[in-house]
Amino acid sequence: MAMDTELFQQAREASSVAYVPYSNFPVGAALVAKNGLVFQGCNIENASFGLTNCAERTAIFKAVSSGVREFEMIGIYGETEEPISPCGACRQVLTEFCPDEMPVWLFSKTGDVKKTTVGALLPYHFKNLN
Ligand code: THU
Repeated sequence: MAMDTELFQQAREASSVAYVPYSNFPVGAALVAKNGLVFQGCNIENASFGLTNCAERTAIFKAVSSGVREFEMIGIYGETEEPISPCGACRQVLTEFCPDEMPVWLFSKTGDVKKTTVGALLPYHFKNLN
């Protein structure tokens, strides 16, 4: 997948099934694997708020639990005026599986787009050096 419009559509579609009874803040992620598969993720909240899983981590966990670990890009969609940006926990999880130079596309509902990378979002991130 090359076009960010397609990535935008996949990320927005992913947000349509977000489970957000507490925040009413749907987020969608579309994670493109090197093999061409796209893993969509949404945020999934819980009555115990801290157990919420963000859209980005849902997408990564779906892919990894399907046996896929090599990725090309991710798109993240927020139902917002400005593009949203992944939380710290998701940034760390992204660094586990994605190269620093991997593109991260951030989309708003108005079609605003920002492009960054995994490494730019979390420089000098923790790695297990053992
Ligand atoms: N959330 C995401 O799913 N991804 C982000 O990048 C930021 C925040 C979710 C968590 C929670 O369900 C809601 O958005 C409000 O924080």
